Amino acid sequence: MTRTPPSTRAVTKAVIPAAGLGTRFLPATKATPKEMLPIVDKPAIQYVVEEAAAAGLGDMLVITGRNKRPLEDHFDRNLELEQALLNKGDHERLAKAQESNGLATLHYVRQGDPRGLGHAVLCAAPHVGEEPFAVLLGDDLIDPRDPLLTRMVDVQQREGGSVVALMEVEPSQIHLYGCAAVHNTAHPDVVHVTDLVEKPDPADAPSNYAIIGRYVLDPAVFEALRETAPGRGGEIQLTDALQQLATSEEIGGPVHGVIFKGRRYDTGDRGDYLRAIVQLACEREDLGPQFRAWLGRYATETGLSALA
Ligand code: UTP
Repeated sequence: MTRTPPSTRAVTKAVIPAAGLGTRFLPATKATPKEMLPIVDKPAIQYVVEEAAAAGLGDMLVITGRNKRPLEDHFDRNLELEQALLNKGDHERLAKAQESNGLATLHYVRQGDPRGLGHAVLCAAPHVGEEPFAVLLGDDLIDPRDPLLTRMVDVQQREGGSVVALMEVEPSQIHLYGCAAVHNTAHPDVVHVTDLVEKPDPADAPSNYAIIGRYVLDPAVFEALRETAPGRGGEIQLTDALQQLATSEEIGGPVHGVIFKGRRYDTGDRGDYLRAIVQLACEREDLGPQFRAWLGRYATETGLSALA
């Protein structure tokens, strides 16, 4: 690989991979993208688009697959529905129908064959060009009250290179994630990433720091991805390309990690999906009081509260 200095440009674009098969969620995901499954009353991907918009990234490219239509339609206007609500004078629901329309300028590209997250990110190369850019996994939900992406963009602009989001997990869980070897920096929430390994056996894991679904990447990652052979599961792994950047500062500058301690849900996992819905529903001002009261009764009646 040629020596590629890191880009020093501002971060303005977000890439949202949403072309995975979602097999852990069958049969719901047979004809519907998992990113469209509702978390209370909003599809998971809308939370993600709102998060990128809140971090000032108004240009978003969604990587879609075979079920592209519902995603595109959700972020477009539905004139028939709007007119029906207008005729009824139902302005509250009209606002809900419209809230996803003007969040950002959304572009779409099809991945075709879902050959892994790395391959999905590579599909963004022509749109991104030579700028650093953010990647937000379309099924990974970060609680809006625990901002992460803004901090990652700040670190990328200060340090250059690429930034990954890291979360400490139980050692027994690390085999489910990409894992980072790290050195501390002067900032307690920022580490220097010296190596990365995809889904290690717990005995071989260099740390308990797992990579979660937010990245701010130097465009040199595209060059690394083009040279990345299929890894685990025959898929082109983003972690493998980032490993090349982390172990050679000659390509695209250093890799840093921002340590996240907030609330995060992998909505592509059924258990996490249920936890996201219960927690967010409990905390909602409109639904919360009634739902919490019911949940309390349910926990008592079924003996669940005694187990806590
Ligand atoms: P996952 O590994 O969670 O997606 O990818 P998956 O393959 O759909 O999951 P299961 O195991 O079959 O249930 C994380 C993110 O990357 C996207 C997914 O849509 C998800 O947002 N992705 C994954 C792609 O866009 N393309 C791919 O080839 C793979």
